[in-house]
Amino acid sequence: MGKGFFIGKTVGIMAIILGSAALATIIALSVVYSQEKAKNNNQVLPTDGGTTSSPPVTPPPSNEPWDRYRLPKSLVPVHYNVTLWPRLTEDATTKLYIFTGESSVEFECTEETDLILIHSNKLNYTKLDNVHLARLTSVNSEVKAPSIKNSWLQNVTQYLVLQLDVKLIKDHKYHLETKFQGELANDLGGFYRSEYMEDGIKKVVATTQMQPTDARKAFPCFDEPAMKSVFYITLIHDVGTVALSNGEVKQSSNVTIDGHNVQMTIFEPTKKMSTYLLAFIVSDFDFISNTVDGVLIRIFARKPAIAAKQGDYALNKTGPILKFFEKYYNSSYPLPKSDQIALPDFNAGAMENWGLITYRETALLYDEAFSSNSNKQRIATIIAHELAHMWFGNLVTLRWWNDLWLNEGFASYVEYLGAHEAEPDWNLKDLIVLSDVHRVFAVDALASSHPLSSREEDIQKPAQISELFDAISYSKGASVLRMLSDFLTEDVFREGLMTYLDTFAYGNAVYTDLWNQLQMAVNASRTQLPDTVENIMNTWVLQMGFPVVTINTTSGVVSQEHFLLDPDSEVTAVSPFKYEWIVPIKWMKTRDIQEPQWLRGKSATINEMKASGGDWVLANLNVVGYYRVNYDLGNWNRLVEVLSNNHTLIPVINRAQLVDDAFNLARAKMISTVLALDTTKYLIKETDYMPWESALSNLDFFYLMFDRNEVYGPMQNYLRKQVTPLFEYYKRMTFNWTIVPPGHLDQYNQVNAISLACRTGLEECQNLSQEWFNEWMNSSENQIHPNLRSTVYCNAIAAGGAQEWEFAWSQFEQATIAIEADKLRSALACTKQPWLLNRFLEYTLHPDKIRKQDATSTIVYIANNVVGQSLAWDFVRARWSFIFAEYGGGSFSFSNLINGVTKRFSTEFELQQLKQFKAENNVIGFGSGTLAVEQSIERTVSNIKWITENKENVLNWFNNA
Ligand SMILES: *[C@@H]1O[C@H](CO)[C@@H](O)[C@H](O)[C@H]1NC(C)=O
Ligand SMILES: *[C@@H]1O[C@H](CO)[C@@H](O)[C@H](O)[C@H]1NC(C)=O
Ligand SMILES: *[C@@H]1O[C@H](CO)[C@@H](O)[C@H](O)[C@H]1NC(C)=O
Ligand SMILES: *[C@@H]1O[C@H](CO)[C@@H](O)[C@H](O)[C@H]1NC(C)=O
Ligand SMILES: [Zn+2]
Repeated sequence: MGKGFFIGKTVGIMAIILGSAALATIIALSVVYSQEKAKNNNQVLPTDGGTTSSPPVTPPPSNEPWDRYRLPKSLVPVHYNVTLWPRLTEDATTKLYIFTGESSVEFECTEETDLILIHSNKLNYTKLDNVHLARLTSVNSEVKAPSIKNSWLQNVTQYLVLQLDVKLIKDHKYHLETKFQGELANDLGGFYRSEYMEDGIKKVVATTQMQPTDARKAFPCFDEPAMKSVFYITLIHDVGTVALSNGEVKQSSNVTIDGHNVQMTIFEPTKKMSTYLLAFIVSDFDFISNTVDGVLIRIFARKPAIAAKQGDYALNKTGPILKFFEKYYNSSYPLPKSDQIALPDFNAGAMENWGLITYRETALLYDEAFSSNSNKQRIATIIAHELAHMWFGNLVTLRWWNDLWLNEGFASYVEYLGAHEAEPDWNLKDLIVLSDVHRVFAVDALASSHPLSSREEDIQKPAQISELFDAISYSKGASVLRMLSDFLTEDVFREGLMTYLDTFAYGNAVYTDLWNQLQMAVNASRTQLPDTVENIMNTWVLQMGFPVVTINTTSGVVSQEHFLLDPDSEVTAVSPFKYEWIVPIKWMKTRDIQEPQWLRGKSATINEMKASGGDWVLANLNVVGYYRVNYDLGNWNRLVEVLSNNHTLIPVINRAQLVDDAFNLARAKMISTVLALDTTKYLIKETDYMPWESALSNLDFFYLMFDRNEVYGPMQNYLRKQVTPLFEYYKRMTFNWTIVPPGHLDQYNQVNAISLACRTGLEECQNLSQEWFNEWMNSSENQIHPNLRSTVYCNAIAAGGAQEWEFAWSQFEQATIAIEADKLRSALACTKQPWLLNRFLEYTLHPDKIRKQDATSTIVYIANNVVGQSLAWDFVRARWSFIFAEYGGGSFSFSNLINGVTKRFSTEFELQQLKQFKAENNVIGFGSGTLAVEQSIERTVSNIKWITENKENVLNWFNNA
């Protein structure tokens, strides 16, 4: 799956304006998940028996096969034949949107058994023989199929259970037929419906999101990634609508079924694939297409969006990115077509269904008049991410969800390579440092973090699977794979990758299979490593966290320790490597790049790293290593001096690193907060984006901690002084804001300049924002450049009152492109009027006002606002049980929500409230937000301490600066 509320600039800007640590908002990758509601029905209660479809009396606790979450290994699917008929209008009597279906699966018996377990969730079955929920036949007419003795639905573990009178015979094949009906709900999971208005008419799309465990909500299936099979899909749909699935259309004809004239579209059988990658869509969308080396590429979207050419950018970039990956993997695209479709309601960012990728509209549709450069970047990178999965994930699939990190981490790394191919002038490959490495450092430095790799037996329930779609899997996975590719060299990395894809094509693998292939590539090359790929990587994959490498340039002693943001936090998780890593170190001394070194064990003396006189040492060049670096104070002071006098001697990524490391080392009490603040002094001369962005995201923490107390004023004065030259720089570059800066990163930094200048109260900036916004209100013609809209809207709404808010709300309601609606939605959270914020909070629970997919991020936007913080917290507390039930019990966005509304917490009182919230809702639970509650408590405790220890120093520093 693609990253959810991927950090667009929109979010970044909001962070600057509102003072959010942006963290949780950004890394939210939401997974649709709704089965958890069945949870409270946790035990099989004794029944009075008698009816054939009720389970046998089983006294709890039971360990029957149907009470276990994993399938037994006795049956393996060969192919499925599935026909589905979604109804795009409400049933007159039940008031439900439904779909009906018929499915037959041919499976092979690999171990004798008299029990068939097949996943099924929320489906109602028609009894084909008037008694049982399914019909079993034998494929070989000489072998008689057993009779079904008993059949029922085991709702907790989501099985259709069939008990047989005699055993199935090993190596024989059987057919299981079912006829069923399900709800086409607006719950964003399984086969679901999405709605939108077109020319005043409500339109309905039937679409799917199977990953991770919702294919079983569309039809009965062996719903585990290793149960690969071939799928023959048929969709029945209204005449004139478009039906899509993973394969090409084989045949489409008009037929009459039960008196309805409908269209029946039969698809070519799929390749052998996992259930979670299936997709079925019925819509009246339009499309554009081209063909690249025989592969048909199509972009589907709402008709007006295609007419407005909003699919053109995606279409133009898909071909080159696809070609890039063919080259990178040395493997041709395995399918005849690549469809990509933009859906009005979609929970994650995008989903890599094989041959039919689904997206949020904002992740696929680009419109010059509405989209910022950050929107454009997001589209290029998400397309690259999903296309990368077509091989890595789809062609070769990890055997079980515990290895999800490898799938998502890999795609999150190579998305930068693919997008760079599409937009070679954007410096995209550098940005992984800000968007993934630095971002996930913040999460992975907590004692409540977790290792990349989980044990298979620990990941069983759907909620446990959903919880894995987090920043660790995506961003840490990407970061360590980037490090691996770097120390192996890209050629060796690719060589191993190619043989991995070749060896396991159409099958499944575990992460060590990749290490083995890479090892073979290393052995055949000249790359020298201190140990095997597996042993090196185990230290990064099997233990949580990361090291801080400390270089003492006086003694040459280099040492490592587990980096913890709060040094007092207690690490209870035992690591097999005692929190030591095998660390590759690329470094430079003064102006020269040096021989790379490895650090193994607690410490080592590396004489070359001694420095004296004016020499300085800088390690982790371009931040390819997944670790932080600390130095002796002398070297730190020399680095700060280089920054002040001649900052370009230090590579730009490392300027961003020095700021980020310094602030975080200060949080961990390894250096003083004053030294960290000293690294921001040189910014008065800095014009590059990466160091500024790094400083701003670190200063966000200062805003969170201090925007409610007396440090605020002096801090604002200092930052205004620092940013004014940058504001002037862009004012000159853009000829008084009349043109767009030519460079991609300059466009980003222009936004930073305006956001921070306005935020710190630079009058010229505030007037500019209000003028632009007022012009729009008065002329109803929006002249504000898309790059600047988020920040300008937010500033103007913050400065304004009800009139500005209502205007923006009406624009939000009328917006025809989701990208514009998103900018307005985030800006609406900027108002300083509590009553407007409270009303906006209420709107988040009305799907006709705020789409379900956007509810939690909207609440987090409001919490980012210093005025909205306590309102959002009260709102979430008061409505927890409703939100939990209505917005999906296992969705990842809950961790996002909880982290988002509590990140400013820094008082004893707030800590007590948080603990009370945890205690009061223990019965309802927190689903995939469970870990987030713990993280929030840990973070609040550490914030309280940090403020106590630092407030006075920081206040003095700002006063003197
Ligand atoms: C799939 O099922 C349909 C209807 O039951 C049947 O007509 C078709 O031949 C089947 N296809 C395969 C490949 O078994
Ligand atoms: C599962 O749910 C269905 C429909 O809600 C119900 O008829 C059935 O009895 C349930 N099964 C069990 C074992 O509780
Ligand atoms: C399935 O059966 C349950 C229990 O009878 C009912 O509440 C639900 O509405 C049915 N769903 C559909 C889609 O028919
Ligand atoms: C199906 O019927 C519609 C309307 O009656 C017609 O426009 C369309 O061409 C028909 N499609 C096929 C495949 O016959
Ligand atoms: Zn993905």
